[in-house]
Amino acid sequence: MTGEQQPISQPQRIDRYVGQYADRAVGMVASEIRALFAVAARPEIVSLAGGSPYVAALPLDVIGGMIGKLVAEHGQQALQYCTAQGDAGLRERICDVMALEEIQAHPDEIVVTVGSQQALDLLARIFVDPGDVVLVEAPSYVGALGAFSSYQADIVHVAMDDDGLIPDALEEAIRRTAASGRRAKFLYTVPNYHNPAGVTLAAGRRHRILDICRRADLLVVEDNPYGLLGFDGEPMRALRADDAEGVVYLGTFSKTFAAGVRVGWAVAPAAIRDKLILAAESAVLCHSSFAQLTVREYLATQSWREQIKVFRELYRERRDATHEALSGMMPPGCGWTRPAGGFYVWLRLPDGINSKAMLPRAISSRVAYVPGTGFYADGSGGQYARLCYSLPAPDRITEGIRRLAAVIENEVQLREDFGPAAGTR
Ligand SMILES: Cc1ncc(COP(=O)(O)O)c(C=O)c1O
Repeated sequence: MTGEQQPISQPQRIDRYVGQYADRAVGMVASEIRALFAVAARPEIVSLAGGSPYVAALPLDVIGGMIGKLVAEHGQQALQYCTAQGDAGLRERICDVMALEEIQAHPDEIVVTVGSQQALDLLARIFVDPGDVVLVEAPSYVGALGAFSSYQADIVHVAMDDDGLIPDALEEAIRRTAASGRRAKFLYTVPNYHNPAGVTLAAGRRHRILDICRRADLLVVEDNPYGLLGFDGEPMRALRADDAEGVVYLGTFSKTFAAGVRVGWAVAPAAIRDKLILAAESAVLCHSSFAQLTVREYLATQSWREQIKVFRELYRERRDATHEALSGMMPPGCGWTRPAGGFYVWLRLPDGINSKAMLPRAISSRVAYVPGTGFYADGSGGQYARLCYSLPAPDRITEGIRRLAAVIENEVQLREDFGPAAGTR
């Protein structure tokens, strides 16, 4: 210190660059899920919030050995750059995985991505100009909404019911968009074991949806992280299996192997594939060779189909625990979907109860969920909550739902005592 007087600092704006961001950055805000993660991770809280897979069910010691061998034997490839399209050997293996959903694709049609989340970003990057319409289900995956809105898409929701996307609603949305003098750039859909709605697009609707999109010359983006995690019977036939030119299919190893390897892929018609490769190159040069070769080795040397069965059984048990607890404990006025696979139940709260307003009370009661508002571009969906059963053990799920049921009951009581109708009784 020199003893000189320091100038009195000016009051700081919280973000001194606030006036300098591009327009597209203005709408970038933390998702409801991210804001929740820190608090929901506390051990006393039963978190039915985040959608993390149960990676503890993997044979971690075996995978550790496999990775050690990979580096020792193929280190010069695994620790080096590769092409932006992705490792050719991995792309061949990905074709085997997709064959389970009756997709016949050539490895050349595949672009490896950093999870399917990056594929969503790359698709938005190559298709969406500010103000372009993108059709998505109502509700829709929060990460897709974030990716599309970061490119300033005008997100238009299309209604679903227990059988998934409603074809008439899709036709109507296409018609309304055309009537406004615009054309939607693509339809984004999660046909199997939907995040967050838990529903699956009925087999009988699939051709109709493809037909509508074909007639409207509307590209379909089929996002399918959960398709192999069905609890009954064989996987559904992918939309891509019936329309190689009209569908971009997105897959990922996050839920069938390990989310932390961050390996997903897109299968696209040739012209779109080329744009995706260029966009990936400018975003990341190439994806992690190490991660790709880890997945390639895993698929080549481990019984991955058996591992998927292990995951399926585990998630089925958790789904059952969720349903049993909901059926036994939820107060009147609640409703919920019955997923036949995947991770999520979509819970409807009694009239007048708002899941976002209720969340602090739920957290105080040591249970967390994601408010439905996170899954709508316009912030509606307040009467809904997403419950994710993939991570907690069944007895914790039961306890979490017991706590949640008590919070909802309290909320209903409060509304009866002090809500808009209270004075009229
Ligand atoms: C519907 C859907 N799409 C995409 C993703 C992104 O997954 P990842 O980037 O891990 O492949 C998720 C993750 O939960 C998801 O539920």
